[in-house]
Amino acid sequence: MTGNSYYYRKLHSLLGVIPVGFFLVEHLLTNYEAFRGGADGHQSFIDKVHWLNNLPLVLILEIVGIGLPILYHGVYGLFVAFQARNNVSNYGYFRNVMFMLQRVTGVITLIFIVWHVWSTRIQVALGHTTHDELGVLMHDIFTNPVTFTLYLIGVISSVFHFSNGMWSFLVSWGITVGPRAQRVSTYIWIGVFVAMSVMFVLTMTAFTDPQFSDTSVLDLNK
Ligand code: HEM
Repeated sequence: MTGNSYYYRKLHSLLGVIPVGFFLVEHLLTNYEAFRGGADGHQSFIDKVHWLNNLPLVLILEIVGIGLPILYHGVYGLFVAFQARNNVSNYGYFRNVMFMLQRVTGVITLIFIVWHVWSTRIQVALGHTTHDELGVLMHDIFTNPVTFTLYLIGVISSVFHFSNGMWSFLVSWGITVGPRAQRVSTYIWIGVFVAMSVMFVLTMTAFTDPQFSDTSVLDLNK
């Protein structure tokens, strides 16, 4: 690595955690309201959507805090993914597979995000749907077996990319140095991967409930 590329690489790594990784966790918790709210899941979810969209300077926050960091991390990540790297020979078979999967899931996640943001946030921005109708929009997506499956692939890829990326981040920033620390870290991030995947799938399934099929059940004055 020569010249500025070291810093571009470090920025790429850091942005993957703050704010992009942070956003993914926040996004999971917000959407999880659809499941956690039980019989009132639709109302709980829409309350969270309203709360988020009433934050001060929300559009600036979305562009500077989410959109641009994802764009940089994604585009620079593609550039890194297609560059040859030969320094993995001192790692075992498991780490080599993880290394390969990190690249594959990065590409899938990027494609998923473009499609997902287009069909949710951009549709609101274009005035084709409203914040109040986002539960119904998600209901339509998750009651269709084709889009449910595509979401499943996109969501699991994103969570894998985040969890395994966190493992690498801790190594490359000198936080998990020895083999023992790296082994413990592996178990922790496998746990995070499983927990987040389960929560996302419970959320997706919750949206198939008939309460999400129309907005008449909602108290929109809250
Ligand atoms: C159960 C799975 C998911 C559901 C139900 C869901 C739902 C939504 C909804 C309703 C919005 C529009 C928010 C608004 O306009 O207020 C949105 C935006 C977004 N989602 Fe997701 N999402 C899911 C998974 C994911 C995953 C796995 C990622 C990342 C890899 C992701 C990335 C984004 C991004 C970047 C935005 C735009 C952020 C913003 O401007 O608010 N989503 N999602």
